[in-house]
Amino acid sequence: MFVLRCIECGREYDRRAMIYQCPGCSGLLEVVFQLEDVQLSRAELERRPFNLWRYRELMPVENSTRVVSLNEGGTPLYRARALEEELGIKELYVKNEGANPTGSFKDRGMTVGVTKALELGARAVGCASTGNTSASLAAYAARAGIKCLVLLPAGKIAIGKLAQALLHGAQVIGIKANFDVALKLIRELCVKHNIYLLNSINPWRLEGQKSEAFEIADQLNFSAPDRVVVPVGNCGNISAIWKGFREFHELGLIDTLPVMTGVQAEGASPLVKAFKAGKSSIEPEPQPETIATAIRIGAPVNAPKALRALRESNGVAESVTDEEIIEAQKLLARRLGIGVEPASAASIAGLRKLLEAGEIARDERVVCVTTGHALKDPEVIFSRYEKPVEIEPSIEALEKVIYG
Ligand SMILES: Cc1ncc(COP(=O)(O)O)c(C=O)c1O
Ligand SMILES: [Zn+2]
Repeated sequence: MFVLRCIECGREYDRRAMIYQCPGCSGLLEVVFQLEDVQLSRAELERRPFNLWRYRELMPVENSTRVVSLNEGGTPLYRARALEEELGIKELYVKNEGANPTGSFKDRGMTVGVTKALELGARAVGCASTGNTSASLAAYAARAGIKCLVLLPAGKIAIGKLAQALLHGAQVIGIKANFDVALKLIRELCVKHNIYLLNSINPWRLEGQKSEAFEIADQLNFSAPDRVVVPVGNCGNISAIWKGFREFHELGLIDTLPVMTGVQAEGASPLVKAFKAGKSSIEPEPQPETIATAIRIGAPVNAPKALRALRESNGVAESVTDEEIIEAQKLLARRLGIGVEPASAASIAGLRKLLEAGEIARDERVVCVTTGHALKDPEVIFSRYEKPVEIEPSIEALEKVIYG
């Protein structure tokens, strides 16, 4: 019902193989479902609870009644009326992935990824992370009762995420280098020491994340929006969401496909540069930099999948400055009441920029994915927003500070 296939050479591999890239040509692997065997109707779906496992026939696990789950998915899709006016667009929605159990979309990947780790008999899991992957993996490994190792770029992790990894008992190691270097190291370590790698190069993990697309379609009464805007770092999520829409389309559950739109931070934008130059591969950036630490990635491993998603969907890629990201974070927080971390706000910042440039039409129906919760990175709020004032405890002092 599903196989593991190389996206470059097409060779297929045993789904019990513990591999992360094609042993033949080093290409990325993807899970391919034989969709003609999948029986799934809208009516059947609507009878089930609204969470990731509602779509269990499209999740590549051997036994969907024995999964490592924290009840992930089922996140809200908000109509963003106040921003429709502000940005000048007809119909805008925010898919708020911060509402997942550990506060980011990574939980969708980890419920499948850690279930897979157990199926394959792994005793330990590992990842390199810009923060959210480690927070999520630590929680799911704890739930599964297996050891978790995380490598982080030292000093470049938002404090809430670091706290989560520590809280859930992962072994946390700071590497004095950026994420890309940490990923190289953990890949080598995992192969050498039989640790199961759960970065987004792991094709099973991306299968969980494709449920973002299923839910968006489901929440829009089984239709696709015109466009989905996604913040991009390692290029896994945008690829997964595109795969989800394609599968729903092939199953006849939606009639159209959205235009995928990837947004990176200006200081870490290899995908945007490659896309705009019409190149088929990215040029790694050795020193990525942005306030949005979650997407501070210079050598995205899933770039071939993301470039394919952009090509197939007639998509767009754009970069935004840190200032534009903070401005968008403020809009989400103060006009919609949705608190997101900086990387997430890149989607709204990108939408605004593309609308102003005329690249996105104002009559489109657009979904922006906000990927992680505001409390992941409280330091950004303390350094970029108004500070609280402190006063003596008297009514006069209180009135003075409020009414002047
Ligand atoms: C909050 C947030 N947004 C966006 C991303 C980017 O996702 P991807 O690396 O799959 O492109 C990440 C990844 O770490 C993230 O944590
Ligand atoms: Zn291959």
